[in-house]
Amino acid sequence: MARRHKRKGSAPLETKTNAMWGGRFAGGPSAAMSEINVSIDVDKRLWREDIAGSRAHAAMLADAGILSRADATAIARGLDAVARELEAGTFPFSAALEDIHMNVEARLEAKIGAPARRLHTARSRNDQVATDFRLWLRAALDALDGALAALMAALAEKAEAHAATVMPGFTHLQTAQPVTFGHHCLAYVEMLSRDRGRLADARARLNESPLGAAALAGTSFPIDRTATAKALGFARPMANSLDAVSARDFALEALAALAILQSHLSRLAEELVVWSSAPFAFVRLSDAFSTGSSIMPQKRNPDAAELVRAKTGRVAGAFQALLTVMKGLPLAYSKDMQEDKALVFEAVDAAALSLAAMAGMIADLKVDEARMRAAAGAGYATATDLADFLVRALDMPFREAHHVTGRIVAEAEKRALALEDLPLEVMQAVEPRIAKEVFRVLGPEASVRSRTSFGGTAPKNVARAAKSWRTRLAKEKGR
Ligand code: ARG
Repeated sequence: MARRHKRKGSAPLETKTNAMWGGRFAGGPSAAMSEINVSIDVDKRLWREDIAGSRAHAAMLADAGILSRADATAIARGLDAVARELEAGTFPFSAALEDIHMNVEARLEAKIGAPARRLHTARSRNDQVATDFRLWLRAALDALDGALAALMAALAEKAEAHAATVMPGFTHLQTAQPVTFGHHCLAYVEMLSRDRGRLADARARLNESPLGAAALAGTSFPIDRTATAKALGFARPMANSLDAVSARDFALEALAALAILQSHLSRLAEELVVWSSAPFAFVRLSDAFSTGSSIMPQKRNPDAAELVRAKTGRVAGAFQALLTVMKGLPLAYSKDMQEDKALVFEAVDAAALSLAAMAGMIADLKVDEARMRAAAGAGYATATDLADFLVRALDMPFREAHHVTGRIVAEAEKRALALEDLPLEVMQAVEPRIAKEVFRVLGPEASVRSRTSFGGTAPKNVARAAKSWRTRLAKEKGR
């Protein structure tokens, strides 16, 4: 049991009862109890939101006549002083005070004395933490939205520059049909724009105020929840006090959206890893986003892309972890929920860092057009174009055209020639009606040029879509 007395900051914790709620306690918590219970190291990140919530609450209490003007003024000034300490990094955090809420309140009392003891009227840490956390996540989602827009802009810019750069398109990572690099970039822009939509949906749903729900049942004081909701920028107060203090679906929803976002970043990261490998060499990552090997001097490792890919484990894991925490919790608040913040912080941090790293990698990316073109011409990527030609020129049913094309590809393979280099006679030996016009469709440039259907890879489609995205994002940024 020696360990009991060796926990960090354990001495005062084991002897003192908690100043905030210890009225009926004779002794302090054990070391392990403190360690499992204390959350200040994690939730200190909520300090701005905690101060803002207390400001709004105190002002409302005064307006409602629950708190004297003099006390409300003292509290407001005291909160300013506490905020200055937190901002300056001089705030004396105390583990004995468990969390950010009690740390701030105790510090307020140290500064202004008696009036501070009235701040917690008609409030509980249960509605307080839910309020702080929603405010924090709302700001975090706004920051992520900006980071997403920046990555989309970087991709749209690359897409515009490479609207006509042909590369092999893949299915099963087997060469399928030529596409343009710009088209590939815009596929991610579309995905990321849906991620933005999901985050915006989560933001809209979380933007209701739990403040004033108190511990779980509401309060007998004549509070004005609409006023505090408005002061904190919430759309409205939450309608049910039990729901207000026990709901964490707002955090789950954000985590689910982040997990999907991170999976998109991971797919792009994976492509960067593959494309920058020597056998592909489609792209080159800048020095700023590569590392060398301590033993193999030739290597340029795409570490940033790999780590973006890996962070998906954390983000998806955070969602799974919180879902598991919440599953089966009875209403209303249970301490289990304290675990929510570390998970959300970790996921938000991972996603934000991944977005920044990815935007940098994309902006710096050097594209090897010749390598992409060569690969697009190899692997019989225009076989579908040949089949389509047979349908159009000879009115052949597609299934038959597919079969004829297969035989022609086999002939080309036998001679180790690209389709566009295969002599006409060889094709005619398979299908005598094929004329020399066939060569117009066999190159990868012709192939992508012909894909003009809505959403197709034709360079003019890509250029138009890239420009439209770029101007949309620029306009948004200017607002
Ligand atoms: N630190 C707590 C949390 O993050 C605050 C709420 C505590 N409420 C309570 N009744 N113990 O969940």
